[in-house]
Amino acid sequence: MPALVLLGAQWGDEGKGKATDLLGGSVDYVVRYQGGNNAGHTVVVGDQKYALHLLPSGILTPECTPVIGNGVVVDPSVLFSELNGLNERGVDTSKLLISGNAHIITPYNVTVDKVTERFLGKRKIGTTGRGIGPTYADKINRVGIRIQDLYDESILTQKVEAALEVKNQLLTKLYNRRAIEAGQVVEELLSYADRLKPYVADTVLILNQALEQDKVVLFEGGQGTLLDIDHGTYPFVTSSNPTAGGACTGSGVGPTKISRVIGILKAYTTRVGSGPFPTELLDEDGEALRRIGGERGVTTGRDRRCGWFDAVIARYATRVNGLTDFFLTKLDVLTGWEEIPVCVAYEIDGKRVEELPYSQTDFHHAKPIYENLPGWSEDITKAKSFSDLPKNAQAYVKALEDMSGARISAIGVGPGRDETIEINSFI
Ligand code: GDP
Ligand code: IMO
Ligand code: MG
Repeated sequence: MPALVLLGAQWGDEGKGKATDLLGGSVDYVVRYQGGNNAGHTVVVGDQKYALHLLPSGILTPECTPVIGNGVVVDPSVLFSELNGLNERGVDTSKLLISGNAHIITPYNVTVDKVTERFLGKRKIGTTGRGIGPTYADKINRVGIRIQDLYDESILTQKVEAALEVKNQLLTKLYNRRAIEAGQVVEELLSYADRLKPYVADTVLILNQALEQDKVVLFEGGQGTLLDIDHGTYPFVTSSNPTAGGACTGSGVGPTKISRVIGILKAYTTRVGSGPFPTELLDEDGEALRRIGGERGVTTGRDRRCGWFDAVIARYATRVNGLTDFFLTKLDVLTGWEEIPVCVAYEIDGKRVEELPYSQTDFHHAKPIYENLPGWSEDITKAKSFSDLPKNAQAYVKALEDMSGARISAIGVGPGRDETIEINSFI
C-alpha cells in the first residue's frame, strides 16, 4: 500500500539521510531512484556517524531492505568500498538489491566528467567529478552500460567499444588526452560481476509485489529540487530527476502508488558548486551559518555556499513535487541570531515577483526581498515537542509553513536520530 517519497526541497544537503534513517524503522524498503555517488548523506546513530554515497540510508536499519533502483548510476568500485566500510563497522549489507537495469559509471565516464569541467574553465558546473553527467548522457544516447551487461561478455565488449568510439576521438583530438583501451575497461568491469551478482534483482517486480502486500516503501531522493535536470537551475544542475516524478521512472512504481511526498527543507539555504543563489550571504552571517551548521560537502569536502531561507524556492518545491509535508531540518543552527531574515519574494528588474521565474536570465537577476523574523537564544536541541520550542522559534516555523505551501510535520533540532520533533506521523 503506502509508498512515500522523501526528497530535497532546495539544492541538496537538506538532511535527507537523517530523515530517511529516522523513518527506516517503520518501512520495509528504502529505494534510491536517481543520482549516484555524487550524493553524500550523513546519518548519526548514537555516537556513530555514517557517510553514505550510493547506498540508501535504510541500509542502517536491519529490518529494512535497501534497493538501488533502475534510475541510479552505479560505480561498482565505490559501491564495494562503501559496503566494505559498513561491514567493517558491523553493518549487515546482505539484503541490498540492485536493479539489473541501473547504468554503470565506467572509468571513462569519470574521465570525461573531469576533462569536460576543466575544459569549461570559468563556465564549469562545479560537478562532483564522479562521472554522473557523462553516464546519464550515455544512457540517453543509448550507448550506456547496464549492470546486466556484466553477465554477457560479448555484449559488454561490443557496448564498451561502441561507447569509446566517439569518446576516444574527443579525448585525443579535442582534449589532448590518451585514448582509453576498450579491452582494459571490459576487464575491469568483468572483475566486478561475481561480487555484484547476489544483489542483482528484478527490483521493479519486487517493489510492486511488496506494495501489493501492503509493505511500506520509501523512496529516498539524492540531490534536491533545484538541482533537477528539468526543474532546477539549468545548466547548474545534476543530470537526473530528484523531483517526485523521478521516483516513478527511477523505480518502475507508478504514481498512483505514492501516498505522501515529503520535502526535506533546511531552515536556511545552502548550495555546492556553481549557479545562481539569490539569498547567498558573502558576509559574516554566511560564515557563521557555515561554521555552526558544519556546511562542508560530505562527498567533495568543499565548503557549501550559505544563505537565508528562501520561501520562493520552498513554494516552488511544493508545486513541482506535489509535496504533502515538509521535514524542516537544522532549526538549531539558527539559535543566537537576534533577527532572522527570510526571503519572501524577489525583486527582478524593479518588479516584485512572488514565484520562481522560469527564465534563467530573470533568476540570475533576482534580488531577495526579506522579512525579518525575531530570533531566539535558548538551546533547542533537547526539545521533544513543538511546545518545548521558544515562542520565537515556534513563530519562525509557523511563518515558514505559511509561506511554503505544505505543512511542517517534523523539525530537526540536531543531527542525531533522536534530535527530532515529530508533529504529524509520516506513516
Ligand atoms: P543530505 O545530503 O540531504 O542527506 O544531507 P547531508 O548529510 O549532506 O548534510 C546534512 C548535514 O546536517 C549532516 O551533517 C547531518 O548530520 C546534519 N543534520 C541533519 N539534520 C540536522 C539538524 O536538524 N540539526 C543539525 N544541527 N544538523 C543536522
Ligand atoms: P546530496 O544527495 C549538493 C551538485 C554539484 C554540482 C551539480 C552537478 O548529498 O544532497 P554532478 O556531480 O551531480 O554532475 O554535479 O550538483 N551536487 C550536489 N550538491 N548535494 C548533493 O547531493 C549533490 N550532488 C550533486 O555540487 O553543483
Ligand atoms: Mg549531502
